[in-house]
Amino acid sequence: MATAPVLPAQPHLVGRDFLRLADLSGQEVLQLVHLAHQMKQRRGATRVEPLAGMTVAMIFEKPSTRTRVSFAVAVQQLGGFPLELAPNTLQLARAETLGDTGRVLSRYVDAIVLRTGDQSVLEELAEAASVPVVNALSHQYHPCQTLADLLTLSEQFGGLKGLPVAYVGDGSNMAAAWLEAAALVGLHLRLATPAGYAPEAALTAWASAAARRAGGSVVLTQDPQGAVAGAQAVYTDVWVSMGQEAEAAARRQAFAGFQITPALMHAAAPDAVFMHCLPAHRGEEVAAAVLDGPQSVVWDQAENRLHTEKALLASLLTPDFSLLECR
Ligand code: CP
Ligand code: NVA
Repeated sequence: MATAPVLPAQPHLVGRDFLRLADLSGQEVLQLVHLAHQMKQRRGATRVEPLAGMTVAMIFEKPSTRTRVSFAVAVQQLGGFPLELAPNTLQLARAETLGDTGRVLSRYVDAIVLRTGDQSVLEELAEAASVPVVNALSHQYHPCQTLADLLTLSEQFGGLKGLPVAYVGDGSNMAAAWLEAAALVGLHLRLATPAGYAPEAALTAWASAAARRAGGSVVLTQDPQGAVAGAQAVYTDVWVSMGQEAEAAARRQAFAGFQITPALMHAAAPDAVFMHCLPAHRGEEVAAAVLDGPQSVVWDQAENRLHTEKALLASLLTPDFSLLECR
């Protein structure tokens, strides 16, 4: 069962990149979640702004509603300027390298937020840039979403360590992010995917060993019912992620039987919550009755993107950041 974590006030992350959750220690993840919780509670308390005079560049190579808007609003609420750069308006579109783009942007801005395809693109940018680079989703990971999901879980259950979480569906970037969360925070994660759609074996092996050391566990299965049994949270993601549109028909066929239905939710703990990173497809990975039902906390998850991104940015960019400075 979950126990409340004991936490010092603030993580020391100044100048670091955030490309995947495992760029942080378990302690730093818990500290960030705690800080985000405090910032959420104190919203509107004062008007002193820790990112005053700073600019955060945001480049989205794929569509985004939540990440784009929550980052822009987070930067603005912290007193900074969110500069969205459409990739096709940069010289990147005319073959300037990402490295050169990162070197130049670092001379103007204080951080770069990038949504892209392969994780190696983020790594290449982070290598060249002298300012923090934040992963706003890659094909492999979505760490900002996981921070918001962990805040949502801790709001619901008062703690994270030892919490039983079921993930049912695609071994996507969200599944990978949950493996990292289990490893760092010590969750009991049961992950059910159809054959051929499990997360990467090396990541699973690492997460499994790390989760055990942190007091949690990782179990991979092809049985949604078994994964969900007794879980406090049931999580799913789309069956067809951005960039996989050509596989849509095959995926819909492979994932039949992995929909989160009211009957499947019934197998979870009586006070279990349903979670989804969104966007959702009712009638596909989740039944409308679950997504729109009383156990669903998906809108809290979406809101918590804002609070966790504020905590992240303040910690990456402000050495002497004080909670008194947030609004
Ligand atoms: N969950 C999430 O990242 O949503 P967007 O794709 O809308 O940013
Ligand atoms: N797995 C999904 C997550 C969307 C937030 C995708 O990559 O499209």
